[in-house]
Amino acid sequence: MVQARDISKAFNGNEVLKKVSLDIHKGEVMAVIGPSGSGKSTFLRCLNHLEVIDAGSVVVEGQTLVSTNAQGQAQYAPEAQMRAILRRMGMVFQGFNLFPHLSVIENITEAPMVVKGLTRDQVMPKAQELLRKVGLQEKADAYPARLSGGQKQRVAIARALAMEPDIMLFDEPTSALDPELTGEVLRTMRQLAEEHMTMLVVTHEMGFAREVANTVVFMDQGSLIEAKPARAFFEDCSHARIRSFLDNML
Ligand SMILES: Nc1ncnc2c1ncn2[C@@H]1O[C@H](COP(=O)(O)OP(=O)(O)OP(=O)(O)O)[C@@H](O)[C@H]1O
Ligand SMILES: [Mg+2]
Repeated sequence: MVQARDISKAFNGNEVLKKVSLDIHKGEVMAVIGPSGSGKSTFLRCLNHLEVIDAGSVVVEGQTLVSTNAQGQAQYAPEAQMRAILRRMGMVFQGFNLFPHLSVIENITEAPMVVKGLTRDQVMPKAQELLRKVGLQEKADAYPARLSGGQKQRVAIARALAMEPDIMLFDEPTSALDPELTGEVLRTMRQLAEEHMTMLVVTHEMGFAREVANTVVFMDQGSLIEAKPARAFFEDCSHARIRSFLDNML
């Protein structure tokens, strides 16, 4: 579904990603864990062009988003092709990023109307179905300011799903939430996983990584240290750096 090869990225000479390679398969739920500053968010942002990579390649469902030429320069696909590729990926951020001046249902219908040129009547049934799915049908006309953090994040998930992506990227979707609101968002994500959505999830929730993810990826100092089936990752982890990280988390 997504092939990332040798992704390198520096900010002002500071190498934040050092040749990170990763394959995400259709229907796979991959958890990305690792210490603060290890490059997890940057890696996610490189996959969907929120950051421009220095070198490497990203291929999404066989379509090349970016590749690196013989001179070592990263070259992105032409604008129209790039937009089509990026549309296959939905993203949910830690901070929700809802449009404050739009109601819940308008937040969900906005992108399909603007980007896909659909009418309100065309997008409404799907938007309502998504709201039901995240358990917020009674909040359709509420504004984001009147929602709890957990509700906002569930709207953000519904909004991303409204574009019918093939893969969902999550960057610490629960870390801005009070503990009692974390569960409702994780339940929504677990449900998506059960429907075989392909998901890449940066998370500090070890329970989610262990129980819902198929694969766990550990990053440290800009490198991918390990990528393993979730059970094996937690049960027979021999890597000292990972052990000490897990000992601190659990
Ligand atoms: N726009 C930027 N400009 C300069 N440096 C940046 C920028 N974004 C990230 N960095 C640096 O890149 C490194 C990796 O950051 P990143 O946000 O990817 O880490 P992370 O693993 O997501 O950490 P956390 O768990 O705290 O979210 C950090 O040293 C950070 O300071
Ligand atoms: Mg981060």
